[in-house]
Amino acid sequence: DSSGNTVVVRKLKDGRLMPKFDPEVLENVKSLKLREDDVIILAYPKSGTHWLFEIAQMLKLGTTDVPVVSKSDFMIEYVKQDILDAKPLPRILNTHYRFHDLPTDIHTKKPKILYIRRNPKDASVSFYNHTIKLSKYYEYSGQFSDYLRLWVEGVDYGSWFDYVKEYEEVCQNSDLDILSLEYEQLKKDLINEVRKISDFLELERNEELIKDISERCTFSSMHSRKGHLTGLADGQSIMYRKGDVGDWKNWFTVAENEWFDEVYKEKMKDSNLKFVYEL
Ligand code: A3P
Repeated sequence: DSSGNTVVVRKLKDGRLMPKFDPEVLENVKSLKLREDDVIILAYPKSGTHWLFEIAQMLKLGTTDVPVVSKSDFMIEYVKQDILDAKPLPRILNTHYRFHDLPTDIHTKKPKILYIRRNPKDASVSFYNHTIKLSKYYEYSGQFSDYLRLWVEGVDYGSWFDYVKEYEEVCQNSDLDILSLEYEQLKKDLINEVRKISDFLELERNEELIKDISERCTFSSMHSRKGHLTGLADGQSIMYRKGDVGDWKNWFTVAENEWFDEVYKEKMKDSNLKFVYEL
């Protein structure tokens, strides 16, 4: 980048950059044995993975009184088969992997899959704050402006553009049992989205529970839950930072925004996806 910083990650054979996960897990992911009653959450990082995990967990267990678990333990990126097999049921597994990296059992066991996407401006701001500012995952002292250019090319997990275009195609054409959700829609009408997820998971949950879950899963409620995932950095929650639609306006300059819109237009010219940037 312009300030001469590099981000330390692993480079895959196809050129994608990845965080440094255990290579053994990475190699075995396709043969990971799943169950029919697993729920899989797919999301590009910072698009609402944990939010959806929490909702899905409450719906599956039929209560808002759920154990506080480390969602990282339920990331396909971290689990070896023996660890996975020892997990309590029902299992909700999340991952940021691309389609061709997913366990092949998704085609045979057909677990239900929840896919969530978020507008790229907020996702990039959230990723910058998470990996650079809060967790200090990388030795990177560049500013957001520098990071944004890296992000557009693809940081951890590769390009956002490739990711969402790939899953756009998957949602349209694959034989998977998949529900496509939007972060901004959850923000706008959480109760309705919780109901939709419940129906998709074929859980006959009553209205009272749906309402309770939507109240327990607002940003402020999740943020204030003690002991939630990944703890704090400098007194701030790493995972539950701001939870807004449109925070990008506090980070993008006018010129960066115009530049980004041009990049978007070019990279997404074959896509029918629409994103919401403000509510
Ligand atoms: P911000 O950094 O913009 O606050 P992921 O779980 O995929 O890593 O996504 C994290 C982002 O989702 C963070 O965004 C986080 O605050 C936001 N988020 C988590 N729970 C939320 C909720 N209940 N409502 C709104 N946003 C939420």
